[in-house]
Amino acid sequence: MISRASLGFVLSSVAYMVTGAFLGLYLLLAGESRDLNWVHAHLNLLGFVSMMIFGVAYHALPRFIGSPLHSDRLAELHLLAANAGLLGMVGGVVFLEGGAVTAAFAEVEAASTLLFAYNVTMTAANR
Ligand code: HEM
Ligand code: HEM
Repeated sequence: MISRASLGFVLSSVAYMVTGAFLGLYLLLAGESRDLNWVHAHLNLLGFVSMMIFGVAYHALPRFIGSPLHSDRLAELHLLAANAGLLGMVGGVVFLEGGAVTAAFAEVEAASTLLFAYNVTMTAANR
């Protein structure tokens, strides 16, 4: 059975892939935009690529390691924080032209990686 966090990450990834691809197409057709170039890069890299990795890793790593994931609740918190952080930071760049609120979301996004690092490390340590 796939966990809620794994499924959430895989479905999020697919949504960011489609959004990122069409934004890329828009960039190609409409031309240069530094902000939208950045939004496109991060929707694809933090959204599509990273979230697919998180979704698959939360499912596969415990099976490779041979012990259950340290915490499903932390993985769900990671799902929430990674999505809120990414949507907030790209939304902030598009609608607020950056600033403190955008930076706060970027900090949430950066902090969310610690949840993944901690959970995977504890799982690998068999705890
Ligand atoms: C339909 C799919 C895609 C299209 C049409 C597309 C198109 C574009 C375009 C037009 C640019 C702007 C280039 C420029 O003005 O310098 C760009 C930049 C970029 N794209 Fe995509 N892209 C697509 C998918 C992806 C994917 C899947 C990824 C990553 C997994 C990706 C990563 C990037 C990155 C990192 C940049 C910024 C590069 C830089 O710093 O100049 N793109 N893309
Ligand atoms: C908390 C997460 C992250 C934050 C807050 C962040 C923020 C930034 C910022 C501020 C820039 C410079 C933009 C500029 O000077 O115009 C940048 C560029 C870039 N970042 Fe990130 N980043 C994050 C994560 C990542 C990750 C995980 C990847 C790759 C997997 C990545 C790939 C890139 C690339 C390729 C560029 C150059 C793209 C471009 O603007 O053309 N970033 N990022």
